[in-house]
Amino acid sequence: MDVRGLTAGYGHAPVVEGLDLSVASGEIVSVLGRNGAGKSTTLMAISGVLPRAKGAITVDGRVLSGPPHKRSRSDLGLVLEGRSVFAKLSVAQNLKIAGVSADEVTEIFPELGKRIGVPAGMLSGGEQQMLSLARAICRRPKALLLDELSFGLAPVVCDRLFETIRDFARTSNVAVLLVEQHIAYAADVADRALVMSEGRIGLELPGAELREREEEVEALYLGGPGATPADQVAAEG
Ligand SMILES: Nc1ncnc2c1ncn2[C@@H]1O[C@H](COP(=O)(O)OP(=O)(O)O)[C@@H](O)[C@H]1O
Ligand SMILES: [Mg+2]
Repeated sequence: MDVRGLTAGYGHAPVVEGLDLSVASGEIVSVLGRNGAGKSTTLMAISGVLPRAKGAITVDGRVLSGPPHKRSRSDLGLVLEGRSVFAKLSVAQNLKIAGVSADEVTEIFPELGKRIGVPAGMLSGGEQQMLSLARAICRRPKALLLDELSFGLAPVVCDRLFETIRDFARTSNVAVLLVEQHIAYAADVADRALVMSEGRIGLELPGAELREREEEVEALYLGGPGATPADQVAAEG
């Protein structure tokens, strides 16, 4: 996936301006940064959720444009911030709407097998994220965008989700762009990390260097104007 000159925002001043990034097939790139850095805006602009975003986006050499459903037909998978399941519909119905086989999903996450008739809103947070992730994976995207999958979940559940993402990226040769606030999780899962600050990529480094360069990364989290103790707590999780 290749993104050139991405500019997006909500009103007059853009939040993200002229952003370039690329993710190779089979590669996992993590976007880090404190609350408000522009991570979700970037993902929403790439996926077409923010309709007036500018820039050139290609996946496997094919241009992505138009509304989100058109981009998802052109091989882009998406799990946005928060749990994007239909709460009143059963797990089975959630999968049916997405055109995804329940058997395939329960092969990835066997625990969903026992919950297949349950309204998705009754699932635990971890199970809901498993459902969202499996649904996106089973549609066989060539590029997958994931926004803060780990939010509010226990470490043991996060490990399962990230392990699944790693397997998927490697075996299906998919480009994964994953927003993650926790440096430790990003270090576990990412081949490469981009640290965002005020809508720009302030630092790019190999995932393997995240732990040893944690201070440098944290400085970018905390350095921007408006960084408050509350932001620090959010950044540290
Ligand atoms: N719906 C919105 N309307 C107006 N401003 C927004 C909206 N969503 C986010 N913003 C602003 O855009 C900036 C970047 O937000 P966001 O991309 O959500 O950051 P992150 O995901 O890194 O926490 C912040 O200043 C935020 O207040
Ligand atoms: Mg966000």
